[in-house]
Amino acid sequence: MSVRDVLRSFLLAWMAGAFVVCTAAEKSLPKPGHVIDGLTPAPVTVVEPHRSTPLKPVEVSYTGYPVVPLLDGWLGEGWRRPNAMIGFEASDGYLSMIPAARLLRYPAYLVYARSDGDDFSVETPPLNRRVNLGPWYLVWDNLLHSELQRDGATYWPYQVVKISVIDVASLAKLYPPMLPERYRSGAELTEKYCLSCHQVNGVGGRKLPIDLGQWAVNQSFARFATWVLDPSGKNPMTTMPALAAERPAAERQVMARQIYGYLRAVGALDK
Ligand code: HEC
Repeated sequence: MSVRDVLRSFLLAWMAGAFVVCTAAEKSLPKPGHVIDGLTPAPVTVVEPHRSTPLKPVEVSYTGYPVVPLLDGWLGEGWRRPNAMIGFEASDGYLSMIPAARLLRYPAYLVYARSDGDDFSVETPPLNRRVNLGPWYLVWDNLLHSELQRDGATYWPYQVVKISVIDVASLAKLYPPMLPERYRSGAELTEKYCLSCHQVNGVGGRKLPIDLGQWAVNQSFARFATWVLDPSGKNPMTTMPALAAERPAAERQVMARQIYGYLRAVGALDK
């Protein structure tokens, strides 16, 4: 799913005069451990991206529920629209926006414990700080679909307390009609890697809600790249992850360029 598809459907609906602003479905999640909507929790084994490296995969078994029937029950079947984005929000304002198409294509589970009874937590940089994963953590069957391992921990939100459908009107703000077509891939990368914590035109997470477009307009690529490619070089204690750390350096450079290009273009439009 891409921002382009979202925008196309938005424009088609608008041109047809049929565009209706819909209120997004939203659900504060129940406490784990209950039988939910008639579903019984089951174990699922995954390669835990927070513990693994490309050379050393670490498998962990968690207990939880397949996410698709939960979303059907909680959000209504509207979440299955081909262009929908589903927001998984953590207590600290971190917002993971996941394409509905991805949730329908790959088996994902909302889990709330480790199957072996061990601590429901992982160590994350910097300094291998231990974070609790509960109350809810979204995991993917990346043993069955090993291509998911390419994305590392992207799309594995933890401490999830709320789930919502992000409406088409807000997503369209990420790509104003005046923005040239060549910034598409940068917009998609920004959505995937940055908007869980930051914002563009009011869309995104609330962990550190600066507007990245406004920021980029006033900054050089060199300064931007040091933040994005090596945030702990800027601040050893930062919780900002390095961009796609699991990918080769040359690919990461290109990604950073594309994100920067999009951010400056969208930031300049606002002035
Ligand atoms: C998990 C949350 C998270 C994600 C994802 C994230 N950041 Fe950050 N970012 C932060 C935090 C927290 C800071 C505050 C700086 C610190 O920790 O010292 C920050 C700081 C920044 C700054 C410096 C702001 C300033 O005041 O100078 C920039 C620029 C930035 N981020 C850009 C990005 C971009 C671009 C992406 C996507 C490639 C991204 N961030 C992804 C959490 C995140």
